[in-house]
Amino acid sequence: MYCTRNVTDSIVWVGANDRRLHLFENLFPIPNGVSYNSYVILDEKTALMDAVDFSCCRQFMENVEHTLAGRKLDYLVVNHMEPDHGASIEEVLTRYPEAVLVGNAKTVVMMKQFFNLDLTGRTLEVKEGSTLSLGSHTLTFAMAPMVHWPEVMVSYESSEKVLFSADAFGTFGALNGHLFNDEYAFETEWLDEARRYYTNIVGKYGVQVQGVLKKAATMDIQMICPLHGPVWRSNLAWFIGKYDTWSKYQPEEKGVLIAYGSMYGNTENAANVLAGLLADAGVKKIAVYDVSKTEVSYLIGESFKYSHIVLAAPTYNGGVYPAMEHFIQDMKALNLQNRTVALMDNGTWAPMAAKQMQKTLEEMKQMTLIGQPLSVKSSLKEAQMEAVKALAKQIAESVNA
Ligand code: FEO
Repeated sequence: MYCTRNVTDSIVWVGANDRRLHLFENLFPIPNGVSYNSYVILDEKTALMDAVDFSCCRQFMENVEHTLAGRKLDYLVVNHMEPDHGASIEEVLTRYPEAVLVGNAKTVVMMKQFFNLDLTGRTLEVKEGSTLSLGSHTLTFAMAPMVHWPEVMVSYESSEKVLFSADAFGTFGALNGHLFNDEYAFETEWLDEARRYYTNIVGKYGVQVQGVLKKAATMDIQMICPLHGPVWRSNLAWFIGKYDTWSKYQPEEKGVLIAYGSMYGNTENAANVLAGLLADAGVKKIAVYDVSKTEVSYLIGESFKYSHIVLAAPTYNGGVYPAMEHFIQDMKALNLQNRTVALMDNGTWAPMAAKQMQKTLEEMKQMTLIGQPLSVKSSLKEAQMEAVKALAKQIAESVNA
């Protein structure tokens, strides 16, 4: 049975929700599922804005068929080619043989890489600023390379002032009936997942996201239709502000993320002691995670959130404990910058972790080391407590500065 939602009288959500998938991109846990959004614009001409993952193709095709109600599909606009949206394109083009695929030069190249499709005479290539009239609706295309793939573009519909934003302004989480952001308690129930989605999927491309935000600032946008998560029809400036903060690598909160790895509880103990001393020293926001137990995408989300980070890890094979090494390398890969970091390590005979962690941090941009790395020899002892207190005081002063 079709399952569609009206965005406006002439724009219909025809996407699908996926609560079966465990790992998005076979990497990222999605306990709340994910939505693949697609939209039909009904006018003198009809346009389908992107498609969905193949796992939801049947539901999607029912939705499209119901919405078109016997009309032909004139255009399939492909803002993003990644298979979580693009995998159903072949099915759309097969079922709607008159549909013309609208994309940019890179879209068509990728399309041919993914599918054995004969697109002869079926493509309309658009560039920055190209327009497509559907009747009373007009789409204007703006390129958004690397947000999150090179071929990404966004489409602005000027009569209803709707931005079809591709992955930008998306989030993990399936839609539970409601379509719009203001039908959910977004800040309390969705923001962490939106941040985890952004930082892990697009986090590396802050410069390019800034480019899209600059273009968006020139458009009169009343509504944002992303490819994942709720449609934004209110409080747009707040969510755009979050994207601005994340893409500038600015912290959202003054506070301390403590991420520790611990084989037998001794490094964990040192992390807990430091957390308590930070609380005593007046730090209001402290988040503590075991890197072995916390899947790394959650750590990444938190690292983009907080201003200060403490990394505490045992030495392992003469280097950094593997789970911590994974986290640090991921932060580096995603271009995290502009954070203040303190280091603690542990080594029973040859502590090396802090030195190695410092080396990686020095390869990142604007990562400021605070205090002297604190080295625990097997377990924290009373003799080191003054040093831990001094570190806590220094971090607290920096957080509250
Ligand atoms: Fe939702 Fe980059 O695909």
